[in-house]
Amino acid sequence: MDTKVFEEYESEVRSYCRSFPTVFKTAKNAEMYDEDGNRYIDFFCGAGALNYGHNNDYIKSKIIDYINSDGIVHSLDMYTFAKREFIDYFENKLLKPRGLNYKIQFPGPTGTNAVEAALKLARKVKGRSNVFALMGAFHGMTLGSLALTTDRSSRGGAGVDLGNVTHLPAPYMLDGLDTIDYAEMLLTDDHSATEVPAAFIIETVQAEGGIQLFGVDFLKRVREFCDKYDILLIVDDIQVGCARTGTYFSFERAGIVPDMVTMSKSIGGYGLPFALTLLKPELDVWAPGEHNGTFRGNQISIVAAKAGIEYLLEHEVEKQCREKGDIAAKFIEDEILPLDSRIKYRAIGLAIGIDFTDLGGDAMSKAVMQACFRNGVIAERVGRENAVLKIMPALTIEKDILIEGFEKVKSAIEECLK
Ligand SMILES: Cc1ncc(COP(=O)(O)O)c(C=O)c1O
Repeated sequence: MDTKVFEEYESEVRSYCRSFPTVFKTAKNAEMYDEDGNRYIDFFCGAGALNYGHNNDYIKSKIIDYINSDGIVHSLDMYTFAKREFIDYFENKLLKPRGLNYKIQFPGPTGTNAVEAALKLARKVKGRSNVFALMGAFHGMTLGSLALTTDRSSRGGAGVDLGNVTHLPAPYMLDGLDTIDYAEMLLTDDHSATEVPAAFIIETVQAEGGIQLFGVDFLKRVREFCDKYDILLIVDDIQVGCARTGTYFSFERAGIVPDMVTMSKSIGGYGLPFALTLLKPELDVWAPGEHNGTFRGNQISIVAAKAGIEYLLEHEVEKQCREKGDIAAKFIEDEILPLDSRIKYRAIGLAIGIDFTDLGGDAMSKAVMQACFRNGVIAERVGRENAVLKIMPALTIEKDILIEGFEKVKSAIEECLK
């Protein structure tokens, strides 16, 4: 395994390669192979970008057909055949059956672009600069979205003040603290020093925040709070959307309708850069070209996006996710929790966190992640002190490989408990 070129020439900013120090070469569905032929079960899934697995045959065939037909690849936001097909399919097969009515903005190619577009639009619509976000949130690394993101190390890289955001403690943070009561107090107390925000942005499950799930009641109250104070609700579904929690949009379980939704990662689920900002039609006050970018709506990504959603509907991926989530939860309850009473877990669908906060935190989660890697499982760490092992397999993972992966996680934990 030769990593010299990376160490010599690639910036020190590189990160995941430090956790999984090998040179990957091929991958199929939930398995990855390095250049020496070692096999790894992928419980990382491109941080949620590969919900339909590596190199999904159906999506791949659509991409190859498109390229072979000399389909246009780059066209900024000109009208294209592929984009028309995608918009039509997305609206009629995905949004309408769910009773959702959104216009679609194609921002730049990655998740943070979708968040930046939503922030900019919310501020323009409401004529206010402040935005509410929750502590524990991760919304991206460019300056607007980084101002929402809370982890110290990401914020530390900004080099400038990160402002115009009020962070509220998340419901799980303090016993007896009610996040919405607190938010309400900020807006009604004339000594709170807090401006009414243009928007309130939330992930329904904080993924990088440690797989912290928000209950249906809380999500409904956020919606009511936003309505009461004329605030736009933005749901950031970049990591836990696209069926990861068992429904296509993660907010469906709460029966709420956000004013805007940010999406990226697994729209196509093939690993191609693509992002969308969904907005209620009445919010579409953009002037033409007011928010721009050369790589908006990349056509190969658009082809993959339509194919990904076709695959989802055809193969009932939401249902698959719920079933496999039940298998995973049962394994954790029967096999992993009994290993030590200090191990906790949180899960919804196939977004799973095994929490080592009470069992050595960072040191233990790191040891477990490294032992997983030695055993042939890729899983990253998230949350406060990185104490949570985040397990996010492809939703298409074969059931026997799912169990095999969990057996390996279990033996990694056993090894670290010795
Ligand atoms: C919830 C959420 N929002 C935004 C982002 C930023 O997406 P990207 O890394 O594609 O810019 C991420 C990335 O992990 C995320 O999890």
